[in-house]
Amino acid sequence: MNLRNFLDQAFSKALVAAGAPEGTQGMVRPSAKANFGDYQSNGVMPVAKKLGMNPREFAQQVVEKVALDGVIDKLEIAGPGFINIFLNKDWVADQLKAFDERCGVESQQSQTVAVDYSAPNVAKEMHVGHLRSTIIGDAVVRVLEFLGHKVVRCNHIGDWGTQFGMLIAHLEELMRDNPDVLESELSDLEEFYRQSKQKYDSDEEFAERARNYVVKLQGGDQWCNDMWRKLVDVTMEQNQKSYDRLNVTLTRDDVMGESQYNDMLPTVVADLKEKGLAVEDEGAVVVFLEEFKNKDGDPMGVIIQKKDGGFLYTTTDIACAKYRHEELGADRVLYFIDSRQAQHLQQAWTIVRKAGYVPETMSLEHHAFGMMLGKDGRPFKTRSGGVVKLSDLLDEAEQRATALIESKSSDLTDQQKQDVIDAVSIGAVKYADLSKNRTTDYIFEWDNMLSFDGNTAPYLQYAYTRVASVFRKAEESLESFSADIVLHDEAERTLAMKLMQFSEVVDAVAKEGAPHLLCTYLYELSGNFMTFYEACPINKEGVEAEVRASRLALCKRVANAMCTGLNLLGIKVVDRM
Ligand code: ARG
Repeated sequence: MNLRNFLDQAFSKALVAAGAPEGTQGMVRPSAKANFGDYQSNGVMPVAKKLGMNPREFAQQVVEKVALDGVIDKLEIAGPGFINIFLNKDWVADQLKAFDERCGVESQQSQTVAVDYSAPNVAKEMHVGHLRSTIIGDAVVRVLEFLGHKVVRCNHIGDWGTQFGMLIAHLEELMRDNPDVLESELSDLEEFYRQSKQKYDSDEEFAERARNYVVKLQGGDQWCNDMWRKLVDVTMEQNQKSYDRLNVTLTRDDVMGESQYNDMLPTVVADLKEKGLAVEDEGAVVVFLEEFKNKDGDPMGVIIQKKDGGFLYTTTDIACAKYRHEELGADRVLYFIDSRQAQHLQQAWTIVRKAGYVPETMSLEHHAFGMMLGKDGRPFKTRSGGVVKLSDLLDEAEQRATALIESKSSDLTDQQKQDVIDAVSIGAVKYADLSKNRTTDYIFEWDNMLSFDGNTAPYLQYAYTRVASVFRKAEESLESFSADIVLHDEAERTLAMKLMQFSEVVDAVAKEGAPHLLCTYLYELSGNFMTFYEACPINKEGVEAEVRASRLALCKRVANAMCTGLNLLGIKVVDRM
C-alpha cells in the first residue's frame, strides 16, 4: 500500500465532507520531525483561504470528518492549520506483518511504457557518457516492471548516417588483406573509426568511394547492407559484454536503432509538407517553429531534410515518436538522454504534436541528466585527455574493489570473495551515479564510491550483511522466519515507519524517473536499522522470546527492503563480506 496516497485520500474526502470543493487534495506528506507526527496534511490552509474561513477552525471540522478508525492514534492541529497525523502502532505492525519481498508494493494497473536508454553509436566504443543513460534507464525499467507495467526497452542506437560510407570503405580495405578482420581489428572500434575518418579526410579517391557506398546503402544494396550489418553486430556484441558485466537488463532484442525508422522518413517529410508544417527553404525542407526563437528573434527553422536529400537526427526522432504510438501503443515514453539534447527533443516533439502523430494523452518525457566529471570538475577523461572506455572503467573498478576486499581480514572462501568483489565493484560504480539527483553533473571519484561510510553501495551492501548475520547468530532462517510484530521501542517504531514508506518511494521513482529517491530511502533505512540494532538487542541473554521474535520479524522486513531495493537499482547483495 502506498501509505501516503492512502492517507491523502482519507484527508481529501474529509476536506470535501467539511465543505471544501470536490477534488480538493489532502496534501499529505511525511512529517519532518517526530513531534509533528508521522505524516501531516497541509490541505486545509489553501481551501480555508478561498472559503474565507479561519483555517484552524476549518481544520477542526476536517479532523471530525476523517475516517481513519484504527489507523491513527490521534490528529493534532498545529500552527496555522496543519494537521499532524499520529499512526497507531498496532495498525502499523499489522500492515508490516503482511509484508513479503514486495515490501507492500501492489501491482498497478498496467501502462505500456517505452524507455529509450543507453543508445550508443555503431563503430564507436561505448563511453562513459552512455553509462549514465544505461544505468539510470535500467533502474527505472526495473522499477516500472516491478510495478506491473509493460515496458518496452528501446535501445535507440546510432546505426544510420553518412558516416557508414567511410566505415564500409575502410572495412572493405581491411577485409581485402584479412577476411577475419572483424574479430581482430574491430576489438578497438574507436581506432577503427579514427582510421576511417583519417582516410576519408586525406584520400579523395577513398572519399568518393565512401560517398558512393552511402548512396548504395540507402538504396538497399545487398553487399553494402551486409557490411553495415557486420559493423552493427560487432559493435553490439561488444556492448552486450558491458551490459552483462554491469548487470543491465538490455539484450540484443532491445535494439531499435535509428535505421529502423529509415523507411518512414520520406513519408513523414511529405506529410509534414502537406500539412503545411514544413516548407522548402533554399533547397532544404524546414519546419519553422514559433515556440523557439533564433538569435534574431525569428521563429527557429528545424531542418528535416537537407538539400542533398539526406534526413536528420530530428527527422528520425519525429518518426520514432510516431512509431512508439502507432506500433508500440505506448502510454508514456521516457527518454534518458543527456541534458544537452533537450532542445533537440523539444523541437522534435513540438513537430510531432502539431502534426498530431501522437495523442495528447501520450506523455513524452525527457529525463535529462548532467555530465560525468572528473575530480578536477572537468569532463571525465583519461590522463592523456581521451574518452574513457566503459570496459576500462569497469576493469579499474574491479581492481580497486579487489584491493579493498583483500585488505580486509575475513574467513570467506575464494568464491565468496569473488562474489563480493563483483557486487561491490559494479555496485559502487552504479550507485555513485544513481544516488545523485540525475539533473546535475556529478563528480566521479573512486575513493568516495568505494567507501564503507556514507551513502555508497558498499555501505548498503554491508548493512545488508549485518541483517543477514543477525539471523545466522540467532540460528534462524531469514527466508522462513515468521512472528508477530509488536512495536515497543522508539527505534522499532521509527524503523517500522520507514519500512512502511517503501511503496511510496518506488511510486515516486516510476513517476519522476529518479532512482536517487530510492537510494536516499535505502540509505536512511540502513541508518534506522543501525540505530535499532544498537538500541534493541536480539541475540542477547535476557531478551524475552516474544520481543526477540518481533525484532527478528522486523529485521526480516529490513532485509527484504534492502534486497528488493538494491535489486531494483540493479545492484547485487551478498550475505557476508
Ligand atoms: N545515439 C545518441 C547519442 O549517442 C543518443 C540517442 C538517444 N535517443 C534518441 N531517441 N534520440 O547521442
